[in-house]
Amino acid sequence: MRFDVVTLFPEMFSALTEWGVTGRACQRELTSVHLWNPRDFCSDPRRTVDDRAYGGGPGMVMMAKPLEDTVNAIQAEHQSMGLASAPVCLLAPQGERFSQKIANDILNYGNLTFVCGRYEAVDQRFIDRRVDLQLSMGDFVVSGGELPAMTIMDAVIRLIPGVLGDEESAVQDSFVNGLLDHPHYTRPEIYDNLSVPSVLLGGHHAKIVDWRRQESLKLTLKLRPDLIEAARKNGLFSAEDERFLLSLK
Ligand SMILES: C[S@@+](CC[C@H](N)C(=O)[O-])C[C@H]1O[C@@H](n2cnc3c(N)ncnc32)[C@H](O)[C@@H]1O
Repeated sequence: MRFDVVTLFPEMFSALTEWGVTGRACQRELTSVHLWNPRDFCSDPRRTVDDRAYGGGPGMVMMAKPLEDTVNAIQAEHQSMGLASAPVCLLAPQGERFSQKIANDILNYGNLTFVCGRYEAVDQRFIDRRVDLQLSMGDFVVSGGELPAMTIMDAVIRLIPGVLGDEESAVQDSFVNGLLDHPHYTRPEIYDNLSVPSVLLGGHHAKIVDWRRQESLKLTLKLRPDLIEAARKNGLFSAEDERFLLSLK
């Protein structure tokens, strides 16, 4: 999986490419992250990428040309390498809210180009002409698209086969099967008078699987009943799951 990122702050991405699971995935070349600074595509000596908004108002607007020239350079490189053309994704509060499902969709694209906004906005003409999809982290505003892009890349990189040491850990993550993850415990067996649930100590694999499923259902019903409804609609529940949910009511 190849990511290209258009950003005024390429240095920020060392947090993704040099640390932890995602850092190891880059070292092992299971993924690659290519950083492109639109300032490198400016022709003026001051390498200007932003200007004041027509109509007035606070803040600066990212100009269309440096962004478009950067995307052109990325696409030319893809073409010269025989890569399929990558969708261009703008990080934006008005985009579709990112989810585990979208992480899976991105994995299937094979490669993706992110454009990280900064300042007050991005010139709409660039968005209209060159952006294929817009993704949001949620209904709040952060200062730039870099952290949202890194969050999305992390979620996708975890899904690349071979990235996680124990393949099961992605399968069991929250949202992957439509539910929240079950509670987890580690040593010591008793911590400040609080014991680990006895079923987890008994070594009976089938009982542990049942307990985890039920805890997952219980937690999801309590904290995210919307997910229960969606999972039901998508046919993700067994008759036993339904019996258990009924017993909770
Ligand atoms: C300060 S924000 C601009 C916010 C814009 N004036 C608005 O109200 O929609 C600068 C950049 O941060 C990124 N950004 C901010 N909040 C975001 C969010 N919730 N999800 C994704 N990207 C976000 C976008 O790339 C945006 O262009």
